[in-house]
Amino acid sequence: MKCKGYAYIYTIGCQMNSYDSEKLFVILDKMGYQKTEELNQADIVICNTCSIREKAQEKAFSFLGRLADKKKKKPHLISIMAGCVAQQEKDKVFKRIPHLDVVLGTHAVETLPRIIEAVKSGKTRITETRESHTIFETPPRIEENTAPKISRFVTIMQGCDNYCTYCVVPYVRGRERSRTPESIVEEISTLADNGVKEVTLLGQNVNSYGQKEGICSFAQLLAKINDIPKLERIRFATSHPKDLSDELIFAMRDFDKVCNQLHLPVQSGSNGILKKMHRGYTREIYLERIDMLRTHCPDVGLSSDMIVGFPSETRHDFEQTLSLVSTVGFDGIFAFAYSDRPNAPASKFSGAVDETEKMARLNELLALQESFTEKKNNALVGTVQRVLVEGESLKKRHTEPGENITEPQMTGRTDTGKIVHFSAAGVVPGDLVNIKIAHAYSHSLWGTCAGE
Ligand code: SAH
Ligand code: SF4
Ligand code: F3S
Repeated sequence: MKCKGYAYIYTIGCQMNSYDSEKLFVILDKMGYQKTEELNQADIVICNTCSIREKAQEKAFSFLGRLADKKKKKPHLISIMAGCVAQQEKDKVFKRIPHLDVVLGTHAVETLPRIIEAVKSGKTRITETRESHTIFETPPRIEENTAPKISRFVTIMQGCDNYCTYCVVPYVRGRERSRTPESIVEEISTLADNGVKEVTLLGQNVNSYGQKEGICSFAQLLAKINDIPKLERIRFATSHPKDLSDELIFAMRDFDKVCNQLHLPVQSGSNGILKKMHRGYTREIYLERIDMLRTHCPDVGLSSDMIVGFPSETRHDFEQTLSLVSTVGFDGIFAFAYSDRPNAPASKFSGAVDETEKMARLNELLALQESFTEKKNNALVGTVQRVLVEGESLKKRHTEPGENITEPQMTGRTDTGKIVHFSAAGVVPGDLVNIKIAHAYSHSLWGTCAGE
């Protein structure tokens, strides 16, 4: 098809948004628009937005705000806000960004062709934020002229029914709904046939996959994906502690392609705060699940999300979070300062924590975790790790005095999800190689090929 123009997508937010941006590219491609990485080349610009914290939302507004100048120079430029902020703010967005053409909600991706045609025929300020319980299915995007990405995301379910009191997701993504195993397996098989070696299955709560619809359990889905030829590795995120079943732990232990890695957000170590967050588990239940997991999957790579400064969080509550971090010894964490969100009940809770105090707690938590991350990485020095090669490394590796780097620098991940940079000749993306770890950095490892 003749190229009608170029499309640029700026993606903010979670991995699911990255997956949705790929879907938008599939639709645009069918319409004759080519993907570009150059904003200045674009005829259509989409900002795929995130509303999880105020900061993420503001990033979207400032990016789209800056398009005003570009539109003056290129009047045919079509600008679209997609994603969670679009769904949340609807046509209020136009008050802040008067030059914007379209607000496209999270349920309305498939309406894009019709909307672009409408803009082209002179309509402006279109809002499409209907709600729907179906999932828009489309074959995955396959890069034609470049080498395939080795690792891809696959969303297996959408929305969330958990209603954690701080969280905007149920309001902007709707009720939880799962795709069928058939369509998931078909999509992953297509990816694997096109050179993809690893998939990360995505959902807000993957371990409740299929429960509501009575389709099959998440562990049963993993069994089906584990059988897909040419696929090497399976990861998944996010798991909810309240739904971490023994069945899933056994699946992680028994299925060869399922990686020894789990992201299990705890959010807080204080039972009082967990209750106010409506998380559905206690600190004790969380720790028991971790024990069970480590019994069956020793050395599992463990990560978590935490929120500090939730309304009414006292110093004592926060110390409970610190003590949980010390008890578990995570490989890494993502920690966030609590941010009030529209619609989320916690925004009406009393006991707001002062911003300066929030930042101090955040830094204290991150510093504590840093010591565990270092310890965990250092413990791997001298071991041999099986690494799936993803591509060339952009990081300059450690050199001894007077040493010159001659071999290509590559990068990949261990089974447990740690990033490894290494020097190797004759290794290509998609290879599985044994790497002897020589140095540990704070967020990655460096090593050399150890042969078969
Ligand atoms: N469904 C996942 C993750 C959702 S969003 C889960 O249940 O864990 C990713 C992370 O953002 C959350 O784990 C939480 O730590 C953080 N987050 C969500 N809402 C937030 C808010 N209002 N303020 C600060 N952090 C928030
Ligand atoms: Fe938000 Fe809670 Fe759902 Fe995660 S489980 S998306 S934190 S409501
Ligand atoms: Fe953000 Fe929406 Fe994901 S709010 S975290 S982009 S589901």
